[in-house]
Amino acid sequence: MNVKIEKIYGAVAAEKVAALGGEMKVANELLHSGKGAGNDFLGWVNLPTQTTENEIAEINAVAKELAKKVEVVVIIGIGGSYLGAKAVLDAINSSFDQLQKVRKNPVVIFAGQNISEDYIVELLDTLKHYSIGAVVISKSGTTTEPAIAFRIIKEEIEHRYGKDEAAKRIIAVTDKARGALRTLATQEGYKTFVIEDNVGGRFSVLTPVGLLPLAVAGVDIESFVKGAQDMERACLPEVGYDKNPAEIYAAARTALYRDGKKIEILASYEPKLQNIGEWWKQLYGESEGKEGKGIFPASVTLTADLHSMGQYIQDGERTLFETVISVKEPKSRYEIKADAANLDGLNFLAGRRISEVNRMAQLGTMLAHVDGGVPNIEIEIDKIDAYNIGGLLYFFEKACGISGYALGVNPFDQPGVEAYKKNMFALLGKPGFEKEGEELRKRL
Ligand code: PA5
Repeated sequence: MNVKIEKIYGAVAAEKVAALGGEMKVANELLHSGKGAGNDFLGWVNLPTQTTENEIAEINAVAKELAKKVEVVVIIGIGGSYLGAKAVLDAINSSFDQLQKVRKNPVVIFAGQNISEDYIVELLDTLKHYSIGAVVISKSGTTTEPAIAFRIIKEEIEHRYGKDEAAKRIIAVTDKARGALRTLATQEGYKTFVIEDNVGGRFSVLTPVGLLPLAVAGVDIESFVKGAQDMERACLPEVGYDKNPAEIYAAARTALYRDGKKIEILASYEPKLQNIGEWWKQLYGESEGKEGKGIFPASVTLTADLHSMGQYIQDGERTLFETVISVKEPKSRYEIKADAANLDGLNFLAGRRISEVNRMAQLGTMLAHVDGGVPNIEIEIDKIDAYNIGGLLYFFEKACGISGYALGVNPFDQPGVEAYKKNMFALLGKPGFEKEGEELRKRL
């Protein structure tokens, strides 16, 4: 991985960024010494190198067993219990995976990440045509959205296969002892995997939360973890600032934020990485957005969004900076052909690869945005595969922890998430919320 920050120097002086190196190092050391805020949630820091071959083998074995029985696996979860697996799957699988006629692995789809009645009814209607199983993921075991979806999917599986067979088609990933999902899993005899207490939801993609759905879908989780392990080593505090990708990225975005750039747009020219952007938004939004502070994380997929958000990025309020994930080499090769009539005027591209056109679009856009006052950070990965994506996700986690400490917040809590839940329960008349419900209804 290469983190290139030269294109921010028009907005913030190189010396100013470099001067933050020491501060980033201290923040990085805090993540390892466990002396910073939220230190009971640092299990993710050394997680890749602590993951054993046996753990990976067990996840693969359970996934294989489930895959033998089913055509479709519904992964139920929300937030950190959903976004990582979704992001990695979309990045690694064919963009048209669900249309493949010959399949080695079940189709993996997601539920419990919304409370849409249409979504759930359409899901049930579609599932009727397939042999199904489910992986239900909730660290707390009490989150409303996945709990509702699981109640419905569980009933469907039990209705179709009976309780005994259902227990073989459902796997739970949850806390080792607490929560309604743990109680239910124990009672129903489901195979379970544990999310350790010291790993928060948005940092859990390298636990069974991410690894099990990926293994079910046939992703090489060994390479995924290996990529994260190598990145863990590359981002250790012992690695000098100049060579430490997480510290460099954290320094660049911190310098820009302190200079008034309040919005970071994560961009990519590969549509497969769109959900890496969704995962990243949760990671940075929940970690940094508190106490009236924090960079607002946004994301775009280019060039598609150059035809929608491009105008704002080029010309709108100048509080933005852009971080581009760029990919050195695509998996495939396709050259544009010459056309005798050339009615579209594109023969100047004949013989050139589509990736070359994409690359020029990227470089041209980068220069245009920089000229327009949008500083640009580039995060370059070699290619999109399990190894490189594993490394990329760990890199973002590490830089997030460092940035959060540099911002002066606890990057590992999310107190703001509770406010909507309290109101929703009160409006739904959940026992214990009667008084709040009355007050809220008066305001509607
Ligand atoms: O980062 C977090 O902790 C949250 O976004 C959670 O991942 C999300 O709320 C889901 O929680 P749970 O896994 O407990 O159902």
